Amino acid sequence: MTGSNYSSSVIFFLRTIVLLLFSILNFVSNFASLTPELCHPDERDVLLQLKTEFKIRKSDDGYSITCYPKTESWGNSSTDCCNWDGVTCDIKSGQVIGLDLSCSCLYGPFQPNSSLFRLTYLTSLNLAYNNFTLSPIPVKFNNLMLLETLNLSGSSLKGHIPREILQLTNLVSLDLSSYYSPPPSLPLLYIENPPLFLRLLARNLRNLRVLDMSYVNISSEIPHEFTYMPSLISLHLRSCYLVGEFPSSVFMIPNLQSIILYSNPNLRGKLPVFQKNSSLQFLSIYESSFSGIIPESISNLEHLVYLELAMSNFSGRIPSSLGELSNLSHLDLSGNYFTGEIPSSIGNLKQLISFDVGRNQLTGNFPSALLNLTKLRDIFLDSNKFTGSLPPNIGQLSNLEILFASGNSFTGAVPSSLYQISSLTYISLRENQLSDLVGFQNISLLSNLKILFLNYNNFRVSSPVDLNVFSSLKQLVTLDLSGIPLSTANITSDSNFSSNFAALSLSGCNITDFPEFIRNQRNLYSVDISKNSIKGQVPDWLWSLQYLQYLDLSHNSLSGFDGSLKAVPGSKIGTLNLRSNAFQGNIFIPYTSITYLFASSNNFSGEIPLSLCSGQFSPTIIDLSNNNFNGSIPRCLGNDISSLSDLNLRNNSLSGSIPDMFMHAYKLMTIDVSHNRLEGKLPLSLTSCSSLEVFNVESNKINDTFPFQLSSLQKLQVLVLRSNKFHGMLYQSDGFWFGFPQLKIIDVSHNDFLGTLPSDYFLNWTAISSNEDEDTRAHYIGDSRPSGYYTSIVLMNKGVSMEMERILTIYTAIDFSGNRIHGQVPESIGLLKELHVLNLSRNAFTGHIPPSLANLTALESLDLSQNKLSGEIPPKLGDLSSLAWINVSHNQLQGSIPQGTQFQRQNCSSYEGNPELYGPSLKDICGEPTPPESELPVSSEEAEEESLSWMAAGIGFAPGVVFGFTIGYVVVGYKHEWFIKTFGRNKKRGTR
Ligand SMILES: *[C@@H]1O[C@H](CO)[C@@H](O)[C@H](O)[C@H]1NC(C)=O
Ligand SMILES: *[C@@H]1O[C@H](CO)[C@@H](O)[C@H](O)[C@H]1NC(C)=O
Repeated sequence: MTGSNYSSSVIFFLRTIVLLLFSILNFVSNFASLTPELCHPDERDVLLQLKTEFKIRKSDDGYSITCYPKTESWGNSSTDCCNWDGVTCDIKSGQVIGLDLSCSCLYGPFQPNSSLFRLTYLTSLNLAYNNFTLSPIPVKFNNLMLLETLNLSGSSLKGHIPREILQLTNLVSLDLSSYYSPPPSLPLLYIENPPLFLRLLARNLRNLRVLDMSYVNISSEIPHEFTYMPSLISLHLRSCYLVGEFPSSVFMIPNLQSIILYSNPNLRGKLPVFQKNSSLQFLSIYESSFSGIIPESISNLEHLVYLELAMSNFSGRIPSSLGELSNLSHLDLSGNYFTGEIPSSIGNLKQLISFDVGRNQLTGNFPSALLNLTKLRDIFLDSNKFTGSLPPNIGQLSNLEILFASGNSFTGAVPSSLYQISSLTYISLRENQLSDLVGFQNISLLSNLKILFLNYNNFRVSSPVDLNVFSSLKQLVTLDLSGIPLSTANITSDSNFSSNFAALSLSGCNITDFPEFIRNQRNLYSVDISKNSIKGQVPDWLWSLQYLQYLDLSHNSLSGFDGSLKAVPGSKIGTLNLRSNAFQGNIFIPYTSITYLFASSNNFSGEIPLSLCSGQFSPTIIDLSNNNFNGSIPRCLGNDISSLSDLNLRNNSLSGSIPDMFMHAYKLMTIDVSHNRLEGKLPLSLTSCSSLEVFNVESNKINDTFPFQLSSLQKLQVLVLRSNKFHGMLYQSDGFWFGFPQLKIIDVSHNDFLGTLPSDYFLNWTAISSNEDEDTRAHYIGDSRPSGYYTSIVLMNKGVSMEMERILTIYTAIDFSGNRIHGQVPESIGLLKELHVLNLSRNAFTGHIPPSLANLTALESLDLSQNKLSGEIPPKLGDLSSLAWINVSHNQLQGSIPQGTQFQRQNCSSYEGNPELYGPSLKDICGEPTPPESELPVSSEEAEEESLSWMAAGIGFAPGVVFGFTIGYVVVGYKHEWFIKTFGRNKKRGTR
């Protein structure tokens, strides 16, 4: 036990005795009328008046702690106000010097002229945790000039903090925090002219020992004057919107014991060189912009018990001197940029209870020094670069409750000694490269285990793990064994599984039959049994699990639904994933208020069920792509379309026209109705889709002119009209210009567009002309979507059609091929510096290839074939080093082929059909034996449509990065987010 703990328990003990004596005295004075009244009658009247100023209301909001109405008994039995609950009088003078009405169920506005301000002898006033119904803090506090302690915490006061409070120069403790304000937890209190206020505070309140302004909107820097508050013991400024550079000298205030700067994301700062003789016990900097290293001198903080430097920009190595902090019980360095190994000196922190270095860039092996620390309850190593095996003797940590080592590169076995730590409640080893599960059946000894994550590893087991070993773990709430071959054979009807399960993930576990034991899990919220080989019907008992909200059955071989296909009244399923199964016939939607429906890649037929639009909640994502749905798109989807973000009906047999239903589709980001039999015109209401990013109507029979009206959509990035019956011009001569400020991919190929394009046609295509995005990491359309849903697209690139499972935001393409556009290729094409793919083939373009094309340094694929272009290929094009694929065949080009290597690498067929094109290079290429690829009849449409594999075709365009993701991962990602919300230990852990 530490010294401070010891002394505080002594104080607690003494206080208990004092209180006991006090109540005996009270008792005596109440019944022994001999004692003269201490209370001044005028002050008694003031208190009785005060009592009437507030209503009493016991907690009704569900957030406040249960209150006790102290004033209710005032004046009832005793007239001596000094005996009243919460009132303290000076023992000699009888004046009221203390009033503690904290948590006394006071309700109603705090009047500016409250009689409270007539109790001028008050030295201590506590009004915390009442509900003053968002009234302002009265200015008259400066009547109470003797106040030493003022606590207005969590009392639903609103507005600015009156500067008059700073006249209370006797204040020793000031608490204006508002911890218990109900959500939405916007700050209720703020400061006017914060720099002045804070400077006055530091100068006037020289005696202040405790200052808590947490959740007050300060929105300012902390002035240097704070350094000169000599008495300060405790400074708590949580969530104060602090900005600027925090004066690091404040950490050196000699008496300072506790400093909390939690959640001030814009507050910068650095840790100082700490001196000896610091009193600091509690240091919390969480979610800030603090940066720099942990100084070696941290070891001078010899009294430090709690060190939290988390979710900030700290970097460097963890200094080995940290091991000298012999009183440290909590260490949290998570969410920074720390590198290097954990120093072995950490093994000296004998008092350590919680060790968190998650989400850094730490390397090395599992810090085995931790194994000496027998008091350890929590270990968080997640999301680092740790390697090697987990220590076989981890079982020494006999008090361990949480082991969180996910997201590293640990290999080898899950140590079997782990199963001896009976205190364990939470184990996450997900996302490692663990391969062995020796003695795994002993997991059944961990009777306190609540949460177990072993998914995303490389477990190789000689025989499937018997799922029945979990039947004895009665506390188990969440289990993720995805990727581990499982056997459900030993689970019998007697197997007494806990019915506490809230989340169960058994994805990719080689399960062949629908796991029946789920049936008794009445509390299940989430079930993921995707990527197994489950055949047969979906059992109808599933729909009676009344808490089930998330169900992922994707990537199995399920073929139908058991029982009645009527919606189930009790069901709450909000996310239903049926993707990639063998379902046939009508789709079954168990609950009409489905939010996320993924049913793509099955064999569903029949009409899209109208129940989708009859629910209490409206859908957010509907993905019915790659099925056989017929009939028309239900117009009723428009009834409550305002929450819909993605509508994917691609590749079905839908007919009729697209309903004019988008009037209120403000959140709609994707519309993909490609590969159907839709006809008619595009609906006018599409212009209301102000969030639309992707619009794809490819391969239908839409008969309309170019949708210039969509050019006002500020977010539209992808417009695909390919293979329809669009006609007319691609620009309007009446001056209404192109717009589309974000357009990056436009494919209008294989329609009947005609006319010419003016030379400045590409003048304002801003999103393809310049790249404002400095960020070099790969981003995809949909990244910002909370649902984790991504849109895919098929586009021509390098002469083949390619599917992108996610659309890279830097990908740009213009495909006008297969129309009847004539005239010159607009010179302004040279402005499109970020263009990757240009296809103008199979039109009637004439004139020269514009030399400005040589400006397109990002261009990878250029197809100008089958036009009537004449003249030379501009020699400068030979300098375009990124240009990997070129086709200028079947034109009337002349002269020689540019000397650049990219031009030399093409097949002969890229140039054929230009009788006057000559040059040594072309002869060289065509003189050699024809490579097999060139035998492809490239001029025929069928060949062009032929999909080569991405591996071959995508080379040159960030191979592997762009197209390597699978949709399955996306769903897992979404569920994970849900899980965290539900089961995260608290906000802090919730970020994992
Ligand atoms: C405060 O002022 C209001 C009106 O301004 C009055 O009704 C009330 O009686 C006053 N209260 C006290 C305690 O003087
Ligand atoms: C398009 O619709 C118009 C009438 O609106 C019709 O005259 C024309 O034939 C249609 N075009 C095609 C290709 O079907």
